[in-house]
Amino acid sequence: MRAPITVAVTGGAGQIGYQLLFRIAAGDMLGPDQPVRLRILEIPDALPALEGVVMELHDSAFPLLHSVDTTADASVAFEGAGHALLVGARPRGPGMERSDLLAANGAIFSAQGRAIQEHASQDIRITVTGNPANTNALIAAAAAPDIPRERFSALTRLDHNRAIAQLAARTGEPVAGIRRMIVWGNHSTTQVPDLTHAIVGESLATDLVEREWVRDEFAPTVANRGAAVIAARGASSAASAASATIDHVRSWMLGTAPDDWTSMSVISRGEYDVPEGLVSSFPVTTAEGEWSIVDDLELEPEVAEQLRASVAELEQEREQVRALGYLG
Ligand code: NAI
Repeated sequence: MRAPITVAVTGGAGQIGYQLLFRIAAGDMLGPDQPVRLRILEIPDALPALEGVVMELHDSAFPLLHSVDTTADASVAFEGAGHALLVGARPRGPGMERSDLLAANGAIFSAQGRAIQEHASQDIRITVTGNPANTNALIAAAAAPDIPRERFSALTRLDHNRAIAQLAARTGEPVAGIRRMIVWGNHSTTQVPDLTHAIVGESLATDLVEREWVRDEFAPTVANRGAAVIAARGASSAASAASATIDHVRSWMLGTAPDDWTSMSVISRGEYDVPEGLVSSFPVTTAEGEWSIVDDLELEPEVAEQLRASVAELEQEREQVRALGYLG
């Protein structure tokens, strides 16, 4: 058995945390041979509720769960961490402007970025799920200049998985038969789900589905799925978001399948005309903890135009947090 890896999870008393922690402890994220130490960060008011979650983690008697610690101190949470899953974020309250939300989360993610730089393991990898995820990742990275930019990522895997599910339902192909889906841009309603390179079984997706369906059903359904889940469930998507967070880290560490890729928000070096330094979703292949953006794909004009709009939104968010002083 290997030495345990410390996985720091923020917001562990929340909805996603309640699903995510159990999947990590079960070995779904880092594999069946990798013991984990869970270090859970919460705000002080949520620590009593978190104790109940810890009781349930113990009661599950997970063979791979080496230990569980809780804290409201980021420097304790990230000490020696090999993975940081930044899930906890300030939700948008009544009457809160988007700029208020960016400011509240700017404070959280820059403090956590600093604590990661000072305390985490040399090979730390960071996954931001808490919204606005892409810009929160940018803020955390700016606060941790000594950590390579490639180690910061944000979650667009839920959007990617939703896109696969929609295409599977439309074509009757099991999800396992669908490869090369892409979600470009920001994790927001401007995201660009793109099936123009997807393979369904042995066929090109574009040979199986009509353009009108892609434009009028597929893309809007994927982009607005979060709101649809809230409308139906009376609460936001949590189990699927936790599952996607597990998928994201597992792909990153254990690699994408040959002839497939996944979607991950990572720091751009200018690929596909996404300005350098923005955290944007791209198709990536992964192996042993490293990712690389799939290059040389030809974008349909419509996709390229939608990506430009999503990137404009990311740039706007970057300007707002820069004005608030969070980018140094
Ligand atoms: P939730 O409100 O149930 O839980 C959030 C938890 O974070 C709470 O327990 C809260 O006390 C904690 N928290 C707040 N500030 C914190 C801080 N500074 N340090 C540590 N913990 C802190 O929310 P839920 O449903 O678990 O969602 C979490 C985040 O994930 C939200 O921002 C949500 O918008 C986002 N999300 C992202 C998705 C994606 O695909 N990227 C999909 C679904 C949700």
